[in-house]
Amino acid sequence: MSAPKVVLVGPMGVGKSTVGGMLAERLGCLFRDTDDDIVTAQGRAIAEIFVDEGEARFRALEKAAVAAALAEHDGVLALGGGAILDADSRALLAGHQVVYLSMDVEEAARRTGLNVARPLLAVNPRKQWRELMEARRHLYTEAATVVVATDGRSPDEVAQAVLDAL
Ligand code: S3P
Repeated sequence: MSAPKVVLVGPMGVGKSTVGGMLAERLGCLFRDTDDDIVTAQGRAIAEIFVDEGEARFRALEKAAVAAALAEHDGVLALGGGAILDADSRALLAGHQVVYLSMDVEEAARRTGLNVARPLLAVNPRKQWRELMEARRHLYTEAATVVVATDGRSPDEVAQAVLDAL
């Protein structure tokens, strides 16, 4: 059991999974994503967990998934966009190489269409995305050892920028 090589944090839709897969390939290691771990373990989509059991239940599942993945995974690990809300999860990130993939709201709108299937953006996507980012930006920044802006960059360019920054 050893520490992950790289942990990716940042907002939903920033490309953590796509970039994480590319990074893992280039670093010659495995990619893991805590959202996928939760979906696999629960046998349900994340949106279903939110609807059926509420956000608090999802956050408890996420907290356990983050702790397990940080303990078990030696490779590139992507955390769900809200994982850094939990203080214990943030504390577990200390000592790891943590990359914050950032993007502005216009880029978010372009990339995700501020997709209403994402449970936290269901009512007023653009406004809610802004509010989420205002509440979270400092948490991402504080958790990060490296910040990589993704605006105007392809996933391939972002992956290269991360490698250059590591
Ligand atoms: C969330 C982000 C999502 C997922 C859930 C909640 C958030 O993950 O965990 O919908 O609170 O920002 P991604 O960042 O992988 O989309």
